[in-house]
Amino acid sequence: MRIINMTQLNKAQINQAAQILTESIPSGWPTLQHAMDEIKALLIPENTLLAAIENETVLGWGGILAPIYNGNVFELHPLVVHRDRRNQGIGRAIVTALEDAAGKQGGLTIYLGADDERGNGETSLANVDLYDDLPGKINSFSPGTHQSGFYLKLGYKIIGVMPDANGTGKPDIYLAKRL
Ligand SMILES: CC(C)(COP(=O)(O)OP(=O)(O)OC[C@H]1O[C@@H](n2cnc3c(N)ncnc32)[C@H](O)[C@@H]1OP(=O)(O)O)[C@@H](O)C(=O)NCCC(=O)NCCS
Repeated sequence: MRIINMTQLNKAQINQAAQILTESIPSGWPTLQHAMDEIKALLIPENTLLAAIENETVLGWGGILAPIYNGNVFELHPLVVHRDRRNQGIGRAIVTALEDAAGKQGGLTIYLGADDERGNGETSLANVDLYDDLPGKINSFSPGTHQSGFYLKLGYKIIGVMPDANGTGKPDIYLAKRL
């Protein structure tokens, strides 16, 4: 497996990347066309998109967006790995490469929003009053099956929440890491 800049992908590989995006996060990109439009919009020089490929097949990909706060802060968006190839270190490899890219551009912080929106909520921050003792709730956070467990493993810390971002009791969870 190698990590390459997505500007180097051919049309078929961009299609594979879009397929992985719509399959992995259908709530954000319900169709292949939505996913293709997203990749097209993201593939601008201000952003860095990196893909993991093996035998010319895209296994997963992720991006960092143009920095904010005078170049200090980069948002990681999006990140997806093909469902058949999860738990093989591919997500970690992509995130590490994105962190390196953000660091090389002078970034101090990398952050992301991870929506807790599926079903009745997956984490301990779903369906609770986030206006009451949020620090305590963050201290005793439990990710359940949610992807925030992945980011915690990679050294990210919860830095805040957006209550009810996805409907009542369904927050967006902000995680960040020092570069
Ligand atoms: C989240 C995602 C990108 C992780 O990619 P991955 O390739 O499966 O992750 P890795 O194999 O690199 O995992 C790295 C570590 O995190 C752990 N991990 C992976 N997913 C996890 C989860 N959901 N909860 C807890 N730990 C997890 C792995 O076990 C591994 O731990 P280890 O180092 O102790 O072996 C992938 O599951 C995915 O595409 N999910 C759907 C889309 C999504 O949720 N994207 C993130 C949007 S914010």
